[in-house]
Amino acid sequence: MENDSTIWTEKYRPKKFEEVVGQDDIIKNVQNLTKSFNIPHMMFAGPAGTGKSTLALIVVKNLFGVHWKENHLELNASDERGIDVVRQKVKDFARTKSLGNVPFKVIFLDEADALTKEAQQALRRTMENFTSTCRFIMSCNYSSKIIDPIQSRCVVFRFKLLEKKDIEKRIRLIIEKEKLQIDDKAIEALYEASEGDCRRVINLLQASSSISTRITPELVNTLISGAEPAEIKIVLEYALSGDFLKAKDKLLEVMLKESISGTDIIKSIQKEIWNLQIDDELKVRLTEKTGEAEFRIVEGSDEFIQLEALLASFVLAGRGINR
Ligand SMILES: Nc1ncnc2c1ncn2[C@@H]1O[C@H](COP(=O)(O)OP(=O)(O)OP(=O)(O)O)[C@@H](O)[C@H]1O
Ligand SMILES: [Mg+2]
Repeated sequence: MENDSTIWTEKYRPKKFEEVVGQDDIIKNVQNLTKSFNIPHMMFAGPAGTGKSTLALIVVKNLFGVHWKENHLELNASDERGIDVVRQKVKDFARTKSLGNVPFKVIFLDEADALTKEAQQALRRTMENFTSTCRFIMSCNYSSKIIDPIQSRCVVFRFKLLEKKDIEKRIRLIIEKEKLQIDDKAIEALYEASEGDCRRVINLLQASSSISTRITPELVNTLISGAEPAEIKIVLEYALSGDFLKAKDKLLEVMLKESISGTDIIKSIQKEIWNLQIDDELKVRLTEKTGEAEFRIVEGSDEFIQLEALLASFVLAGRGINR
């Protein structure tokens, strides 16, 4: 292994269009736009770790070559203290002409969905004011959180979770460069754990490699933080049988014992629903409930309250079953 202190997600962040895996149509379109040196405002929407920030950086480097640093401004909406800071920074940056041959500069606004609606309204006016000198690339997880007037000013590209073959390609490249060995089953385990999030895969791979140069599925599994499926199954069965208190206590035990986050518990529950002996319609309904709880937790609602509410809906669903 080379330099142990580097973070692999950065070390192996693609630097050229050709190195990005998956998202084929998006890459083709964005590459063509970049070649023409005339990009529109763009919005990269989609799940974490699928290449949004990576692609934005590739665009900037391709457009500006050696002048890429001077000609682009990166802002993270969730770091900046309010829209006034964003606007001031944009103004200061947009005031001076771009260096080199490209007639505009690029502003990359990461996590744009962290901005409030009011902040987005202000941003929209800023975009209008500087259209002649600046192009915006925005990234967000949920485009539905972006107000229509901004969306309609952008070409929206929807990133998807990466497929297994794409994740595998990236894993194999890293394995080769780092002189590691890996079992096919371990690739499977890494993909399963990542659910299409490439950052997660690479982090898991790096963590595994710090323990052994031979990556096995067992090794990967010991590193995956997640509840034991068997334990989650017990929780759900208590709930479906109507014993809310036992279900709740067991869930708390699992969460505390393994210090698992609410969203990871939700993922385990979602998987386990499909292993329960209940009919498919009920599975669909419970999956929907689980999705709602996940959404609320992600939005900042208390995870214990949401999980308890979820267990309550399992109890109610259980009443409808002849057991
Ligand atoms: N499509 C991809 N091809 C190759 N590597 C990728 C891809 N997507 C992500 N990666 C790897 O994962 C890391 C994180 O990706 P990136 O920063 O582009 O994610 P993102 O989509 O911007 O996620 P977030 O929504 O969390 O900001 C990259 O440094 C790179 O190593
Ligand atoms: Mg990003």
